[in-house]
Amino acid sequence: MSAITIDGHDIAVLFSEADIARRIQEIAGEIAARKPHRLLVVPVLKGSFVFAADLIRAMHRAQLSPEIDFMMLASYRKGTRSSGRVEVLRDIEADVSERDVLLIDDILESGRTLAYAKDLLAARGAKRVLTAVLLEKPGHLAANIEADFRGFVCPDKFVVGYGMDMAHQFRELPFVGHVLRPD
Ligand code: IMP
Ligand code: MG
Repeated sequence: MSAITIDGHDIAVLFSEADIARRIQEIAGEIAARKPHRLLVVPVLKGSFVFAADLIRAMHRAQLSPEIDFMMLASYRKGTRSSGRVEVLRDIEADVSERDVLLIDDILESGRTLAYAKDLLAARGAKRVLTAVLLEKPGHLAANIEADFRGFVCPDKFVVGYGMDMAHQFRELPFVGHVLRPD
């Protein structure tokens, strides 16, 4: 397994740029196969922004032409685990009634963040709310939700990169990694 050092942190590569690119194109095909109707893509900020940027371009190559709007949610955490309370920091502007919506998030862990967003958009009259996550960490699910599209199953480690942070650092890494030596 390759590792790099940034600011004194050793970060092991879990999913490489090439692994991610390949999987994203497959997911775009899976999404297209569901024949979405008037599709609105909603990345859940901040962690999903890199995944979403690559996924929408893969969706274009899969002949889809979605609209995009953004939602920013805060899920309050104790240490590195979700506490259960979710708050909308920035809402979408688009009307979702009678449309298919694809929610995009970085990680499905307790599932509370995504379940909250899905229920919210369903309550506003979305025809179908689909969910895509880059990573799923099994064993922590606390909400009744399953991702429709998933990039990879993730080891039960705190991961960074490809949009995901540890204390605001490492979002810029082009791969998903695991910090071997936190401070
Ligand atoms: P949950 O599914 O509501 O528990 O929360 C998932 C959210 O927690 C993700 O969208 C991430 O923002 C964050 N998260 C969970 N695990 C990690 C991790 O290993 N690294 C970075 N963020 C994480
Ligand atoms: Mg998040």
